[in-house]
Amino acid sequence: MTTRHALRGAILGFTGDPFLTDRPDATLHVQEDALVVIEDGHVAEVTPWSAARAAGLAVHHYPQALLCPGFIDCHVHYPQTQMIGAQGAQLLDWLDRYTFPAEQAFADPHHAEVVARLFLRELLRNGTTTAAVFCTVHPQSVEAFFAESHRLNTRMIAGKVLMDRNAPAELLDTPERGHNESEALIRRWHGTGRQLYAVTPRFAPTSSPAQLDAAARLWRAHPGTYLQTHLSENLAEIAWVKALFPEARDYLDVYHRAGLTGRRAIFGHAVHLSEAEFACCHATGSALAHCPSSNLFLGSGAFRAFAAKRRDRPVCVGLGTDLGAGTSFSQLQTLGDGYKVAQGLGQALTAAHGFWLATEGGAEALDLSGRIGRIAPGAEADIVVLDLKATPLLDFRLRHAGTWPERLFALMTLGDDRAVRATWVAGRLQHDRDA
Ligand code: GUN
Ligand code: ZN
Repeated sequence: MTTRHALRGAILGFTGDPFLTDRPDATLHVQEDALVVIEDGHVAEVTPWSAARAAGLAVHHYPQALLCPGFIDCHVHYPQTQMIGAQGAQLLDWLDRYTFPAEQAFADPHHAEVVARLFLRELLRNGTTTAAVFCTVHPQSVEAFFAESHRLNTRMIAGKVLMDRNAPAELLDTPERGHNESEALIRRWHGTGRQLYAVTPRFAPTSSPAQLDAAARLWRAHPGTYLQTHLSENLAEIAWVKALFPEARDYLDVYHRAGLTGRRAIFGHAVHLSEAEFACCHATGSALAHCPSSNLFLGSGAFRAFAAKRRDRPVCVGLGTDLGAGTSFSQLQTLGDGYKVAQGLGQALTAAHGFWLATEGGAEALDLSGRIGRIAPGAEADIVVLDLKATPLLDFRLRHAGTWPERLFALMTLGDDRAVRATWVAGRLQHDRDA
């Protein structure tokens, strides 16, 4: 039986990629009072509000709000939920001191279930409806994550971390075991409901060349799956990769030679990329996840978003919280950090750029354009309702903002989970702040 209902409110959309024009604000389009008709989990129709069109439909009206496509987090670690804000030096030291110990607890499936539930609930509280998620080396961590995501019907991408060296013995697999366990998870979960699988070698230092080769074989054997890993985040990491793979031209070349670049490959961080590496991303269709909160927290450096999106060879870029090195689940807060990072480089990341990265840009990076990241006919009805009066300060500030670019910019500076009034997932209300 067909189910139909509707949302009413102002809706956000884009007419193009703001990075590819001199007038980014002109790409941002808000339809002030729209009716979004939802049928069987998809957007069926978007029209100006009229009582006649709404006749016979249950309508959820959101005045004083902005309906945005559900936010997309292109790089995040669910097992690190319990160690957000762990203070400690930079990447490699932080991994040894906090990350690897925390991930060992996921040998216990019950622990994995508890954290998966909490993590997905936090994503929805923050308006994030799709994420590319690292689990741990334990298959049961992936099982717990997909089971909960399937229950919520969220469109998630996730995978078992592959590591066969340079980590505690309890967290190591082998090229063959990692391949076989991942393949069993692909068969069980890739394309089950809205779940999608990502082959997930953690990063070059923790995978032998044989494991990177096995990962590439697996990825190519299962069309439509993803490949996610880390790239050029930290200078000590880069020096280590150079020593481990002396034959590679640069860090990305380690992955490229192994067959791990291409459409649906997502590289987290990419802070210290050369022009040759950007060009390789462009040529292969590989995507980058900009993780400003994490890069600030670990002192990794400043991702050059505008260099990545250079108009003569644009690279697909999405936004990543990279929790637990990132310090917030909120894409709004992460954009606030992204703005400040760009300021440090002398570049202006406007609200149009920011909201693009968190919606359409993320969808493009994940090869899901048209399915998520927009509120338009045919798209899956993942929608976040932002409350323009969420806090006294936001209310006061927005009353002094006359245009949508100004309002959206204030939202990415002041907004967080409090600004998320509701989150709709495939047409179902899965988070209602005020319930
Ligand atoms: N590089 C390899 N593993 C990780 C991780 O868990 N977090 C971050 N930020 N970088 C990594
Ligand atoms: Zn990461």
